[in-house]
Amino acid sequence: MEIKDQQGFLDCVSDLLSDPSVQSMEHLSQHVDVSCLQHSIFVSYVSYRACKALGWNYEEAARGGLLHDLFLYDWRTEPHEGLHGFSHPKAALKNAEERFSLTDREKDIIVKHMWPLTLRPPRFRESFIVSGADKVCALAEMFHIYHAIKFAAKLKLSPA
Ligand SMILES: [Fe+2]
Ligand SMILES: [Fe+2]
Repeated sequence: MEIKDQQGFLDCVSDLLSDPSVQSMEHLSQHVDVSCLQHSIFVSYVSYRACKALGWNYEEAARGGLLHDLFLYDWRTEPHEGLHGFSHPKAALKNAEERFSLTDREKDIIVKHMWPLTLRPPRFRESFIVSGADKVCALAEMFHIYHAIKFAAKLKLSPA
């Protein structure tokens, strides 16, 4: 898999990527041996490419995608409110709102990304894209496709 349009993607998210809280997701495991940061970058990039191809708002999709799992705790070992699958979108939105200025679309992307598990459907078409990308990326991580395509190695991130 070729990582196309890297600069265009990084232009959308580089300020978020350099934030310490976003970087701290590298120390949280998400699926198997993929960190929460790697997963979030993967979801963000896939959402960026999909929305750009469709002529939709790719910048907000990339930014919301990068922040969608900014819950900032180890859900396996650390105490947290409610069941992680249901509650972490709200935790991610709270953390993101405390740190960044978010658009309505970015907020919706973050808080609705577990739909349909969380019942209220997304308000924006970009939110459906990120929600779908999240599921596809999670499967790719669980079945070791993420490492097989060498996504992290091929995506040349600018210095954080
Ligand atoms: Fe999530
Ligand atoms: Fe996710």
